[in-house]
Amino acid sequence: MNLYDVAKPLLFRLPAETAHGLVYRGLRGVLGTPVEKGLSRRYTVDDDRLAVSAFGCSFSNPVGVAAGFDKNAEIPNALASLGFGHVEVGGVTAEPQEGNPRPRMFRLREDGALINRMGLNNEGAAIVGERLSETAADVPIGVNIAKSERVDSENAPEDYRKTYERVADGGDFFVVNVSCPNSEGFRELQNRESMEAILGELVDAGASPLLVKLSPDLPGPAVEDALDIVNDLGLDGVVATNTTTDRPASLRSPNRAEGGGLSGKPIEHEATAMVRFVADRVDVPVIGVGGVSGPESAYRKIRAGASLVQLYTGLVYEGPSLAREINEGLLELLEEDGFNSVEDAVGADLE
Ligand code: FNR
Repeated sequence: MNLYDVAKPLLFRLPAETAHGLVYRGLRGVLGTPVEKGLSRRYTVDDDRLAVSAFGCSFSNPVGVAAGFDKNAEIPNALASLGFGHVEVGGVTAEPQEGNPRPRMFRLREDGALINRMGLNNEGAAIVGERLSETAADVPIGVNIAKSERVDSENAPEDYRKTYERVADGGDFFVVNVSCPNSEGFRELQNRESMEAILGELVDAGASPLLVKLSPDLPGPAVEDALDIVNDLGLDGVVATNTTTDRPASLRSPNRAEGGGLSGKPIEHEATAMVRFVADRVDVPVIGVGGVSGPESAYRKIRAGASLVQLYTGLVYEGPSLAREINEGLLELLEEDGFNSVEDAVGADLE
């Protein structure tokens, strides 16, 4: 009997954000205790075939935690003890932010999905940066950097730079979030001019390795613009994708009417298509995110060109053994297809 089979119905009786808070506090509670080591023994899959090198970092396996789960960088090592090979903390902004009024996170149970409009609540870059500097992380840490709510798009480059400088010492790679659907004026940042200014400023500040995270709602030409910038500025990678404001007709849950970004199973196909589109056009590593909920969906992203995958919603529905299940399942899938390693399978479906 899996512990999560018992915990999940109880957690699912609570509002989604309350349940997340409970799990978060539980994970924080195991940090530095023998339980953390116990979890690590239980959930870590130790196999060289899972190892991935990307943008100068070494990952022991390709499965990471997506931005938003550990917004304040309090529990990266607890998440590592669940078998994840990296954690992207944040989104972090220059100053602390409250985010939007609650409720702002909703389960779509029938659809294996979430809708959130958190609005980038976080403790701010100074606190998060300090916390990261004091953490001896067990896995590579990405820091997701976002625009402050009160800053307009004209002043965004400076604002991103300020945030970066405050977290610079604590991250192994940096992800520029220009694709949050829940913060005022955010998605305007995905036009060519704004992206050039923001990313140029961060390159100038010495941010490296530097990746950009894209929205699945960007039209093809806008993605091509973004990828031109990735190539022109020599960025180190692309994260595809963030949540979508789209509402596929397939959604059944009453919560589909909530405003915000949709994540989870209903966005898997779209996100994988974006991974393929991006991987076809750039030579840098792609991190595939969106609807990864088991070995097959992770493998589809890898074959579509993702060197690493991340997940958030899958963890809510599948529980703490998900990273182990994906890693074990990936080893089987690789073997079936005659690949010697994850890296061998990256982009196998591309022409
Ligand atoms: C997110 N996501 C997100 N992304 C980001 O770049 N910065 C952020 O602060 C957040 N915050 C956030 C909060 C919540 C509650 C959710 C559910 C999601 C998006 C996340 O990193 C990921 O891109 C999407 O959720 C798609 O992956 P999954 O959830 O389908 O695995």
